[in-house]
This record gives sequence, C-alpha cells and structure tokens, in this order.
Amino acid sequence: MPAKSATITVMIRAAEKAAKGLLRDFGELENLQVRKKGPADFVSVADIRTEKLIRDELAYARPDFGFLGEESEESAATNNSSCRWIVDPIDGTTNFLHGIPHFCISIGLEKDGEIIAGVIYDPIKQEMFWAEKDGGAFCNERKLRVSGREDLREALLATGIPFAGHGDHDGFLTKMKNTMPQIAGVRRLGSAALDLAYVAAGRYEAYWETHIKPWDIAAGIILVREAGGKVTDADGGNDMFQKRSILATSVSLHDRFLTLLR
Ligand code: IPD
Ligand code: CA
Repeated sequence: MPAKSATITVMIRAAEKAAKGLLRDFGELENLQVRKKGPADFVSVADIRTEKLIRDELAYARPDFGFLGEESEESAATNNSSCRWIVDPIDGTTNFLHGIPHFCISIGLEKDGEIIAGVIYDPIKQEMFWAEKDGGAFCNERKLRVSGREDLREALLATGIPFAGHGDHDGFLTKMKNTMPQIAGVRRLGSAALDLAYVAAGRYEAYWETHIKPWDIAAGIILVREAGGKVTDADGGNDMFQKRSILATSVSLHDRFLTLLR
C-alpha cells in the first residue's frame, strides 16, 4: 500500500467529506436550486456549499495556506507560507446539472508557484486519484503510469469543446480538422480534471484545452507528471495558468501533439 503524507491525507479527507454532500445533491437534482453565472456556465448551490466545506476543512488543517477556488474569494497565504490550495468543488458542473454521472472534486497544492500535490475524486466511480511530487501517482492504491502507445493512429485525445460565450470556436475547429484524421479519436467528457487524471492513468494518450482556469487543471498537472507524462501550455512552455492552456501527454507523443495542435 503506498505511503501517504500528512498533507495528502488532509486533501483526501477533505475530498471524501465533500463528496458525501455532493452525492446526496446529485440524487436530488430536481430540488437543486440553480442560478446562472454567465452564458452556459451554471453554478449550483451544491458548488458553493462544497467549496466552503473543502475550504474550511483545509484551513483547519493548514491555517497559513492561501486559497484559490472557483466559487469564493481568493485569500493570500500568511505567516510567510508560500503554499496555496487551488480547488474546484465540482469540475464537470454541466454534467452534474444534467444528471450525467461524470464529475469530480479537484484539490491542488501549490508551493512557490509549483504544483506539489493533487487529489481528484470521482465520487460516482469511487476513484480517488492522488499524487505528490517525487512520490508517484495513484488511483486508490494502484500506481499510475501514462500510456505507452507510441503510434498517433492509436492515440485518444481528450479536450473541451468551446460553448456559448466561451472559447475560440474557429481556432478549435481548425485545430481539430488538422488533428482528427491523424488519431484514433477525440473525447469530450466534460471534466478537465478527470481528463488529466485519465491521461495519468493511461486511458487517454493526450489532453489539450485552451481557455481553461487554474482550478480545472492544478491537481491534474502533478498527477500526469508523477505518472511519467509531460505537461506544458499549448505553446510548449510552462505557463499553463497565465496562458490558460494545457497539453498533457506521454513524453514520447508530446512533440507530435504540439505540432498538430499549434
Ligand atoms: C469545465 C470542465 C470542462 C472544460 C471547461 C471547464 P466546470 O469546468 O472542466 O471539461 O471543458 O473549460 O470550465 O465549469 O465544470 O467546473
Ligand atoms: Ca472546472
């Protein structure tokens, strides 16, 4: 059984605790109050409540750490701490609200600007993805390794498709037109965090998306890297949060996907 640090244990506990309420809400979707945050971007009461629960839980264990989340005010670290939690309480909100059982809780930990730990929990499939810097990546107790497929024609690419009021629609179509004929298929399951976890697990060969937010990808970055994969922004650099873009693949396929999707 892989050893877990005190910090990853705190993260996993917070995700498990939050998941209980989320599963209850998912089962009672009709009663869920929903309000619009922007075009096609819904935020539910469950989203806000889940983030508060995670935030309180993490703050209780690590009071000095800063916090960046999708649903609440950002707070800076205190007492010289250089650590920050980056949290998405429900990644896959649109799936959640449509009753599609594919969403997760994502908790990343950044230190001095680098992601050093991540937890992504899919409460429906009961898959707890977790990774710590230099400690490997795991799904529950199973060690993860990115895909070994080297032939593009066998490679599955996960992505996010632009929707009303969001993303570069023309640019996306052009890139897909170049890429689709070269690969085994494109998947759009609706959760960026799970897309990254699936790259770490070797289920997808690649995940690429633009117009993405730090909380969508923070935890997944360390999962893919610890599973032996390569993560860059869409231009091949290390500015995923600033450029709001990401390409995560096995090391051997990275250059080829970068060329196709540039
Ligand atoms: C979204 C999902 C989706 C991605 C979008 C994200 P949300 O996050 O991760 O897969 O394509 O760009 O905004 O809204 O479900 O938390
Ligand atoms: Ca998200």
